[in-house]
Amino acid sequence: MTRVYLSQPHLEGDELEFVRDAFASNWVAPVGPQVDAFEREVADVVGVPYALALSSGTAAIHLSLRVLEINPGDEVLCSWLTFVASANPIVYEGGRPIFIDCDRATWTLDPFLLEEELRNSAARGRLPKAVIVVDLYGHCADYDRILELCAEYNVPLIEDAAEAFGATYKERMAGSFGNCAILSFNGNKIITTSGGGMLLSKDRTIVEQARFLANQARPRAAFSSYECRLQLSHEQRAGCYRARAVASSGEAHRGTSAHL
Ligand SMILES: Cc1ncc(COP(=O)(O)O)c(C=O)c1O
Repeated sequence: MTRVYLSQPHLEGDELEFVRDAFASNWVAPVGPQVDAFEREVADVVGVPYALALSSGTAAIHLSLRVLEINPGDEVLCSWLTFVASANPIVYEGGRPIFIDCDRATWTLDPFLLEEELRNSAARGRLPKAVIVVDLYGHCADYDRILELCAEYNVPLIEDAAEAFGATYKERMAGSFGNCAILSFNGNKIITTSGGGMLLSKDRTIVEQARFLANQARPRAAFSSYECRLQLSHEQRAGCYRARAVASSGEAHRGTSAHL
């Protein structure tokens, strides 16, 4: 019987050479020119000014929630039809996921149900702290209506475009709609760094705060240069969520847009 693989990685061309370059230049740390170039290229392709390369898409969702200050007990709306990683980080922060069903045609979050939920929660006097909308299987959600609703109720949008890098909605790229948007570069994704993710935003303060938290909340001087000075003071609860230069190198050198 022939086995048909789901999203089998396709490695060809110069990837191995670029990984060798990263080793040869000694950039095997979670900073360096490869990571910077990868962030710039993805931001350019998606059409947003700021990007942060991370260790996974899940990390990017988690940091989005941290930056938006989701606290224990806060409600966060989330697409119901998705991979578990869209919702898990809500629970990491002690938040309460409220799942919104999908539209029959697109399988993405149904704007009518979102409207109903927001109307009801406004009537209860307790709006959700964020809504996570998933661009499922390379298909963007109905952002015209979703963005209107998020603006009307003043609820920030986290766009989970883990599965949709390169997809468009009315000529705008997936990853350009959310206050925070995330991509995944896991082995089964549209492009892969073997494992990784990215947080994208039009808002520089969101990305800079996420960068700080991704780096163990170390004082900003610790990552403002490539020196990586050892700093053992930590200003907040945080983690190490940064992307690796070796993993970023193949995509950065090759030109991310070449894949799309
Ligand atoms: C919709 C969705 N969100 C989030 C993720 C998490 O991405 P990662 O595996 O890079 O953590 C994935 C994929 O795994 C996904 O399909």
